[in-house]
Amino acid sequence: MSHSNPPHAHRPPHAHPPDANPPDANPPDAAQSPATAGHTIHWAWLYDIVVWIMSWGQDRALRQWTVKLAALQPGEAVLDVGCGTGDLTLAAKARVGAGRVIGLDAAAEMIAVARRKAARRRVDVDFRVGLVEATGLPAHSCDVVLSSLMLHHLPGDLKRAGLVECRRVLKPGGRLVAVDFVRPAEGRRHGGMGWSAHPTPPQGAPDLAALLAEAGFVDVTAGAAPFASLGYACGRAPADGA
Ligand SMILES: C[S@@+](CC[C@H](N)C(=O)[O-])C[C@H]1O[C@@H](n2cnc3c(N)ncnc32)[C@H](O)[C@@H]1O
Repeated sequence: MSHSNPPHAHRPPHAHPPDANPPDANPPDAAQSPATAGHTIHWAWLYDIVVWIMSWGQDRALRQWTVKLAALQPGEAVLDVGCGTGDLTLAAKARVGAGRVIGLDAAAEMIAVARRKAARRRVDVDFRVGLVEATGLPAHSCDVVLSSLMLHHLPGDLKRAGLVECRRVLKPGGRLVAVDFVRPAEGRRHGGMGWSAHPTPPQGAPDLAALLAEAGFVDVTAGAAPFASLGYACGRAPADGA
């Protein structure tokens, strides 16, 4: 089987790069980013362009696919962990309308860019600097938690701690949707173009379904995403609130 074209080549890419996010004239102080063993990204002003290039212009399609997968409903409360510059968070807000949406990232620079985007669009999204492993949010306060391309930035024990925290903030029966790099299926490797140009994560690409189950999620489903090297897993917080 030839792999000269990325598997998503049939999808029309966005020909135009995302809006530029010029470097901040007053960049956030490094001390504003809390310490974590997760790999944080501080070159936020370049992030959207890098993602656009690495995805062959599929970044917007990926965000729309992810919010569809989450089946977001008007009025739902959503938390996007490791939200980066906020594109998925803003797509989620467009779906839930008046529902409360929080975007959380450990890098103050990412949150600064995300806040500027929300302000430009006059959208009310609560972007805040924080950690997936210690969100500071009340238990049982969210209907849905989204995690996009974040888990591969966490070492193994932190992946588990982060997912346990996501379960804690979900209402009983609430949904977690995780999209990330996964182990390449046979014959489909990391390397080459598209999303697969991302180097294999240092800890190895995660088994998303196993991670969710270990963190106490139930009704876990998983599969390949229609984007090279990416997969997803969805799970529910137990109905008894455990
Ligand atoms: C590859 S980016 C993904 C950004 C965005 N979710 C997306 O889909 O484009 C991974 C993000 O996780 C953030 N991150 C790393 N460790 C974290 C932690 N412990 N808590 C919250 N965010 C973290 C990084 O700063 C970075 O913005």
